[in-house]
This record gives sequence, C-alpha cells and structure tokens, in this order.
Amino acid sequence: MLVLGIESSAHTFGVGIVERGKVLANEKEQFSMGTAGIIPSKVAGFHIRNAKNVIGRALKRSGRSINEIEGIGYTRGPGIGTCLQVGELAAKTLANELGVKIAPVNHAVAHIEIAKRFAEMKDPVALYVSGGNSQILKIDKKLGRYRVLGETLDIGVGNMLDSFARELRLDPAWGSSIAKLAEKGRYVSLPYTVKGTDFSFTGLLTRCTELIGSEKKEDLCYSMQETAFAMLCEATERALLLTNSKELLVCGGVAQSRRLREMLAALSKSHGMRFGYAPDEFNADNGAMIALVAEKMLKRGLFMPIGKCDISQRYRIDDALVVW
Ligand code: FE2
Repeated sequence: MLVLGIESSAHTFGVGIVERGKVLANEKEQFSMGTAGIIPSKVAGFHIRNAKNVIGRALKRSGRSINEIEGIGYTRGPGIGTCLQVGELAAKTLANELGVKIAPVNHAVAHIEIAKRFAEMKDPVALYVSGGNSQILKIDKKLGRYRVLGETLDIGVGNMLDSFARELRLDPAWGSSIAKLAEKGRYVSLPYTVKGTDFSFTGLLTRCTELIGSEKKEDLCYSMQETAFAMLCEATERALLLTNSKELLVCGGVAQSRRLREMLAALSKSHGMRFGYAPDEFNADNGAMIALVAEKMLKRGLFMPIGKCDISQRYRIDDALVVW
C-alpha cells in the first residue's frame, strides 16, 4: 500500500512516502527557532507556506504520482495546536481529493515504530527523548497500547537543553550546540533528580542558569549533559530490569546525541542486552514515521472518516492503539 504521511506537530513540516514498510521519500522543511523559541502562529504560517512544496518534493523523490497514493496519515498529536491543524487540513484535503482513507497517528508511537523498524527490534523498552517528551515505554500486549514505565515529572530533556542553549545565546537544536561546548568541559556538581523510574529536569535547568557567569559555560554544558543523561540511564536501567527486557531502543530528537547513545550502549552491554536506534534523519521529526504507522493502521482497517478527523495537543501515547 502506497501511503503518504504528514508530520507538523512542532517546527518541522515533513512528508514521507512509504510502501510495504519501505521508505520511498522523506522530505522536510524546518522552521528556524532562533533565540525566541517556537512562536505557534509563526510556525503554522511557515508550515502553510511550505506544505505544497514539501509534498511535491516527496512525490518527486518517491518516483510516484499523486494519483498512485492509496492512503494518507497525519500527526493527530501531541504537539502545538496551530501546527497540528496545518498538517490535519493538508491531509484531509488530499484524502478528500484522492478519495482515499486517512489515519490519525500518535507522534510518539511513530517515533518508536520507525526506530524499531531500523533497529530490527520487536518488543524493546523504548526511551523516547525529545523537546516535549521524555518517557520510558513498552508495549503492554494485553492492553494493545504502550505503557509508560517512567517519564519526566516536568519538562522534556530536549526542552531543558534548548532552554539552556537560549540562556547562553546559542542556537538551540536538540542539544547539539550544548554537546559541542560540552566537549571542552569539566564536571561541576548539579542537582540530580530520579524518583524510581521518573525524573525531573527543571531543578537542573534552574541551577545551571544561576551558575552562568560564575562557572565556565563549557563546564556547565558538560555537567548538564552528563547529569541529565545519567538520570535517564538510571531510570531506564531500572525499567529494563523490572520488565526483564532483552532490547533497548532510543528514539526522538535527543536520540541524535552521540553521548546519550554511548551511555545507553554501555548500559545495555553491561546487562547483555541489544541496543538500537534509527539514523538521525528518522529521529528528528519526519513524515516517513507517520506514513509507516499509517500504512499499518490502514491495512488493519484503523482509518477515520474525514469528518471525524481531529487533532489532540495532549494525545498521550498510552491512549493510542498500537498496531504491530
Ligand atoms: Fe518528535
């Protein structure tokens, strides 16, 4: 089944085309956040201006025509309302014009499923780390849904890294500018907050922000990164052992961090577990992950009448049915 998926939950407008689980195209345009962060109305306007161009590029890359598309997927949530609405409207318009079925996809499920596909894993514990989310998850086969084993009690780890990058007047991009400075840093003691399999990042962000000027920024970046990632590793290790899992997957924007992957690989190795992740292109927000899940949903008859399609800014992963 040839399926086109649209992702627009935050600063990326992405379009992917998938057939029988194979990615034929994955095109995107990304709003540049600058130091002001995401301004919803501006990002939505950016998505509107870029939608036609990105859809056209994806079709060209796939070598297929619009009339060959057999199904449409879009991100229902979670995400920023005005941004989600642009993708929803584009998807509904296309589905209506083409007379094909449409599937509303949970963004977090899509991140995990595409990483599973590349890592060739079936039933891993997944550490999903991005700007808006940081959760430890595993499918509960009886419920047919992902179960949240642990999660942030306040902000996502990517949000913390981006917020601190803005405090330092650096370009915020999923922690990459923090990671660059961290290479030259030394450790400074910072708040470390893990409660069972849950964790918290606001204390760490507040303390690092207070220390700007009295500690070197390289040391603060290094120490923030090491502390936050160690917290994620401790909580993940506890979840892995509690569920007796043999596979660990990391996904989401912050899964692009080489240092986080290095720490998780060491953790997995120490327990004799497999560790995996997707190529960076598919850890950042992308349309291919939405198309991949939409194809699975549509094949199982999990489509939605166009008139009933909606968005949900707080669409939790444990509310989404899983098709595997
Ligand atoms: Fe995401």
